[in-house]
This record gives sequence, structure tokens and C-alpha cells, in this order.
Amino acid sequence: MLEAFIAPKSVAVIGASRDPTKLGYGVLSNIIKSGFPGKIYPINPNADEILGLKCYPSILSVPDEVDLAVIVVPAPIVLNVAEECGKKGVKGLIVISAGFKEVGKEGLEREKSLVQIARNYGFRILGPNILGLIDTVIPLNASFAATMALPGSIAFMSQSGALCTSVLDMSLVEGIGFSRFVSLGNKADLNEVDFLELWEEDPNTRVIAAYLEGVTNGTRFLETARRVTRSKPIIAIKAGTTGAGAKAVSSHTGTLAGSEKAYEAAFKQTGIIRARSVQELFDLAVGFARQPILEKNAIAIVTNAGGPGIMAVDACERVGLQVATLSPETIAYLKENLPPAANVFNPVDVLGDALADRYALALEAVLKDPNVGGVIVILTPQVMTQVEETARAVGEIVSRYSKPVLGCFMGRATTEKGARILREYRIPNYEVPERAVAVFKAMWEYREWLEKPIPELPTFEFDADTIRKVIDQARKEGRLLLGDSEARLILEACGIKGPRTALARTPEEAVAIAEEIGYPVVMKIASPDIIHKTDIGGVKLNIQSPSEVRDTFDLLVYRATRYMPDATIWGCQVQQMVKGGKEVIVGMSRDPQFGPLVMFGLGGIYVEILKDVSFRIAPLSREEAEEMVNEVKTIQLLKGARGERPSDIKAVVDVILRVARLVTDFPEIVEMDINPLMVLEEGKGAMAVDMRITLSP
Ligand SMILES: Nc1ncnc2c1ncn2[C@@H]1O[C@H](COP(=O)(O)OP(=O)(O)O)[C@@H](O)[C@H]1O
Ligand SMILES: [Mg+2]
Repeated sequence: MLEAFIAPKSVAVIGASRDPTKLGYGVLSNIIKSGFPGKIYPINPNADEILGLKCYPSILSVPDEVDLAVIVVPAPIVLNVAEECGKKGVKGLIVISAGFKEVGKEGLEREKSLVQIARNYGFRILGPNILGLIDTVIPLNASFAATMALPGSIAFMSQSGALCTSVLDMSLVEGIGFSRFVSLGNKADLNEVDFLELWEEDPNTRVIAAYLEGVTNGTRFLETARRVTRSKPIIAIKAGTTGAGAKAVSSHTGTLAGSEKAYEAAFKQTGIIRARSVQELFDLAVGFARQPILEKNAIAIVTNAGGPGIMAVDACERVGLQVATLSPETIAYLKENLPPAANVFNPVDVLGDALADRYALALEAVLKDPNVGGVIVILTPQVMTQVEETARAVGEIVSRYSKPVLGCFMGRATTEKGARILREYRIPNYEVPERAVAVFKAMWEYREWLEKPIPELPTFEFDADTIRKVIDQARKEGRLLLGDSEARLILEACGIKGPRTALARTPEEAVAIAEEIGYPVVMKIASPDIIHKTDIGGVKLNIQSPSEVRDTFDLLVYRATRYMPDATIWGCQVQQMVKGGKEVIVGMSRDPQFGPLVMFGLGGIYVEILKDVSFRIAPLSREEAEEMVNEVKTIQLLKGARGERPSDIKAVVDVILRVARLVTDFPEIVEMDINPLMVLEEGKGAMAVDMRITLSP
């Protein structure tokens, strides 16, 4: 179906123009200039011939089949034209015209009608409101960009058409080549997922690069991206935030979540490499496109300058890359063959007066070394430095080895020529060591992603009937916020343990329960209207005796009625006191794009002040939950710092997995918090002490 967009045999330009200042001229002329090998049909009722091609009054009057139509007519006419394309049996439409969703209500209606026409006839639409599509494989330049792209193996999609033109412009100078280059625009029909699928199987594409502002369908995006990254890297920029924060939030998790966290989680869980700037996007894309991937986390540096070598080492250490320890053979060889003043340990310093031959010798030695995974060749231009010869020597050697090598010819006026020669050998050049290091870092992360097992979802025995009953009952009574007692029933039904707890309606009942549980106990005000119990002095810990239980009951009820006179008071909860636990928080809020976003962090100040929390999209595999736990910095406090016994992290992972399962199976749960979950010593489990659940209406 999408064949029309990567291998069209004929193209029509509807709205082709004879006026060189018009879009309809530019697009037609671009198609002709790009060397499109198939038939080209300009469509314009007022012309017989444009740019030497026979012109037709409408697509219906074209004598042959048309695979792809590029539409540049004004928005109000687009629907008619699309209808005609449908009748003609056109398979794909590239709607460059603007004046749709982006201009408000009328435009939105028009866009909906356009999609409806496409559905009726079964054709697909790219756009509207786009720069167009450029393809160096076909080749075809169906866009109003000033130039054609250079051929290459990066497929690029962008939600911003304007960004496309600058990227293209920049790529010509930097020598960056593209296989496919697509502006997505309003994504009325085709969106990022369609192109991921299309390019997944494309032998001409080695790397997919994307500039995204949002995704159309989160679930489909996750599924597809997760699969595609197994066969080729996806590097993406996510810009802007969607209106996810607009809804009212009542949980901790809800306040800390949001679309940015959801995207971060989505990228991590699908192996998408995230770039933070356009420069980084293409630094990485070019690295992946031109060099083999890093197979061993061990970077060697060959340099003719000490300072940049040290900076490269620093950058490696900052991002968690290992600086290779060269083998004794390599070190001995370098010692023998380099001048005495050279540094023969990594970074290998060939000294400022190094000519091409010295670089060649050192580079070959480190490439041969089995302790080395990849090499950065740093060159600073000095009076005797042979920039071009060195580049050529590097290129020749690199082509004989299968390890990735990145150039770092620093400067520009003098080193540019060297960079260009490196490029001929498919070696990317980065002007500062940090940029080269970032490429290796991304490669290593991608390597680790490829080795991760396909996530398996654990299954649990849930008492689904009980969960269903509690939820239905609350909703029937019009209560969407489930307090501790109902939430407790649900968690218990999921196999999440908590301290023994019971509701006392009178001081006498409270004493009876306390005797039954055993002292010390904790008492908490029980009211469906009081969310944060501590805030109104509604929690008392470490209660030791029956008389204290009685007094506390009266005190808590007194405080509650004073602070919130209208609150319904059920009584007090009497609870077993959990001793020696560490407090963590496990929660969930629902993201409008990706669904259930599960959160983990250490409780108290760590979550409130440091916001040291991690997120993943449910459902979760065990590995994902473990990663999530290990990601927060404060996890060290659970691992047993300074002679402390380690906490039961396994039990935390188990609770996270059960919560992830619960919120996947019961989509009516829109938010929840277990705060705190008390984690006991290793082997002793974790206890959900306080919790709340919010239901959708
Ligand atoms: N059963 C318990 N054992 C030990 N500490 C508890 C217990 N229940 C509550 N706490 C402590 O009291 C704090 C507040 O209690 P909690 O039930 O979370 O109420 P809220 O969050 O509504 O103020 C908890 O964060 C925890 O430190
Ligand atoms: Mg709490």
C-alpha cells in the first residue's frame, strides 16, 4: 500500500504552474531535476505544457495510471482534487497545501473530510501542510525545498517542515546523505509509525532519524519502535510537551509524571536513542550510518595533542565509557616505534610534530589490539601537520578493520580538508572530542539494547473478582477516590501485603483491635474526605496501651471534625506498627499518549524535594522493573550504605510488577499511590502502609 511512497512509477503534480515564483512550479521543477525515472504529469486546466511536459486539465484526463499525486492547489480545492484522485485510482497523495488543522476549526473539518475521501477510495495521504518528500533511492524530489538531498543511508522524518529545509541545507555542507527524507506535517493519515514500518525493511536505510513533537498513537508507536530498533537504530528528538498536565491530579505520582516523563520512559523501553539537539541527532545518525557499531566498551584515543586527549578521556568517563587498557604487546610496540617523548599508554600521544606515518603506525597498533573496541583519532593542526595525508592514511587503515573509528580533526579552516577526505572513507569527523564520545556512548547503549531479551511479562494470581467488586461498588456510590480501606482490599487481592489493619468505629472497638494485633499500634483517622491524614494530625504512631488507644481515638476524631467539619468520619484505623522499614513510593498515573505510567522512588524528602523518581510504561517485564529501581540515585540507601543491612529490593520489584499488572488489567484505575511502601531487610518483604486509588468516572 505504501509502495507508492517509496517506489512510484508515475507522479502527477496537481497545481503545476508556469510561474517560477509559484510553489506549483518549484515542485514540478524539483521532480524533473531530481531525475525521477517514471512518468511525470503536470495538472493545470489553464496550460498545455509546463517545463516541456504535456499538461492535463485534470488528473482524470491523464491517459495512464498514476501512482502518486503531489498536491499544491489552495486548500479549498484540495477536497475536489482528492476526490478526482480517488476516482483515478491514485495510490498515494502528498498534500503540500496548508490550510488544514493548523488554521483552526474550518481547517480541521476540511482535514477530516480529506481523510474520509482517502478511506472511501483506499489511498493514503502524506501531510497536509508539509515540505514534501525527498527520496534519493527512487530518486524523487517531490518538495519545494531549495535543493535535493545527497544520497546516503539515513532516513529522516520531521514533524516540522521548516526544520527540514534547514537540515537539508546543513547536510549539503556537512556531507550528510539521506535515503528518504519526509516531512510529516499534520499527519492526517500517515504518521511516524507508518514510516518506521516502511523503513524497517528498507535495504537502503541503515539508520532512522526523527524529529517528533508528539506521536499519534502511543501504543502502536511502542510496539513498532520496540521491534524496529532490533534491526536498525532509531534516533529521535522529542520537542515540546503535549497538554497532558491539564488534568487535575490528586496523587504524588500524578504531580511528578507528565508527558516528558512518559516520552523518556517510552524511548527507554523501545531502545530509541534520544538526541537533545539537531546537531546531536545528526552526529549520532552519521556515526551509525557510516561506521560499524561498537562491540566492546573500550575506547582508544590517538592524538597529537595532550589537552584534547585528556578531554576525550574525561568525556568517556562522564558518560560511562571505558578507556581501553592497551595490551602489553601494543605498548611495547609503540615504545619501540614512537619517539621517546610519546605517550604509549591510552590516550596515545604521537606528539605535536607527528606526520601521517606516525599516526598510521599508532592507529594500526591500537586497532589490532583485542583490548580496543573503537578509536577516536584526534588531530590539531600545527605547522608541520599533514592534515590531508593523515586523513588519507587513517582512511586506508580503517577500511581494513571492522572496528568503529571516529575522526576528531579539531579546528576548521585547516582541518576541513582532512574532514572531507575522512568522509570519503566513510569516517565521520567531529570538531570536539565530546561529540565523538557521545556517538560511542550511543553506540554502546544500542549494543546493550540489542542484547536485552525480548521483555516477558510475568503473570500473577490475582483475585480479580474482589478487585472488580470493590471498584464497581465505589463507582456505584459515586466515589472515585478510594481511601485506604478499599485500596487495601484491592492491593491484597493483587498479593501486595500490608500491616494488619482494621477499622474501629468506637474507642472500645479500637482497644479490642489493638489487643488483637498487639502493641505498639498505629492509629489513623478514617474518612473518605481526608486524603492527607498527617496534614490534619490524623496519624499517631507507636501507641503502647489501651488507655492511649482510647485517648488517641478521641483526639483524632476531634482534630478531624475541627479541621474539616463537613467530613464524613468513619472512625479510626488501627494498624500494626511496622518497625525498621525504609519508605519508598510506588505509584501510577495515566498518560494520554502511552497509558499507565508507573513510578518508583524513595519516600519522604527524596521524592518531595529531590524528585528522584523513575518512570516506566506498564505492563512491565521483570528486567524493566529492576532497571527502574536501579535508576534512582537514592537506591544506594536501600542497598545498604555504611554497614547497614540491605533492604529487600526484590520485594519492591515484585510490588512494582503487581501494580503494573493491576493498572493494565483495570484501566478504570487512573491514578494510584502506595506511599509509603515500607521495605524491610532483605528476605523480609515489603509492606504497603498507606495507599489510595483514583477511578475514572
Ligand atoms: N503502620 C505503620 N508503621 C510504621 N509507620 C507508619 C505506619 N503507618 C504510617 N506510618 C508513618 O506515618 C506516615 C504517615 O502515615 P500515612 O498512613 O502515610 O498517612 P498520610 O500519608 O495520609 O499522611 C507514613 O509515611 C509513615 O512514616
Ligand atoms: Mg502516606
